[in-house]
Amino acid sequence: MATTLTINGATTAHDLAPATLLVELLRDGLGLTGTHVGCDTSQCGACNVLVDGVAVKACTVLAVALDGARVTTIEGLSPDAATPDALHPMQAAFREHHGLQCGFCTPGMVIAGLDIVRRHGAQVDEATIAHELEGNLCRCTGYRNIVTAIAAGSRAMALGAQGAALGAAHGDASSGAMARARVDA
Ligand code: FES
Ligand code: FES
Repeated sequence: MATTLTINGATTAHDLAPATLLVELLRDGLGLTGTHVGCDTSQCGACNVLVDGVAVKACTVLAVALDGARVTTIEGLSPDAATPDALHPMQAAFREHHGLQCGFCTPGMVIAGLDIVRRHGAQVDEATIAHELEGNLCRCTGYRNIVTAIAAGSRAMALGAQGAALGAAHGDASSGAMARARVDA
């Protein structure tokens, strides 16, 4: 079935079997292996991606059902297209606060964190973050630092947005890059 998707900013038409899962398209079709598969029961959240800005478990969605949608994977989170290896503030917070051990759950946790900020705002408290992460499993059980990282990431995103607004008011192009560090990336 002909399916057009915008994945990490690039719009492409795909000819897909109707049963193709989004995670299969991303990993096997496009080589975007940062989206992980950690279970076969829709429980772990390792496969989280953003679909039109909302976190979705890519192992639960048929790719053809998303015709016209905008998908962002962990590979597409850089706030600056000119430097694709630059970390999104949420990714930087995971690094700074040791929010990962083996790293297997991390892409899904980062995406979940962005969705938590989208729904609860930058001042979301740690108890809310912990509750909202019930759909994400960390086999290394590093939840304490993951919660801390998401809280710090949310604050960093807010500061970046403020800086971008100030920069725009003063014609500062460098701050404009941070403006793209939006929740919906
Ligand atoms: S692989 Fe999708 S929820 Fe576990
Ligand atoms: S850091 Fe290892 S599974 Fe979460």
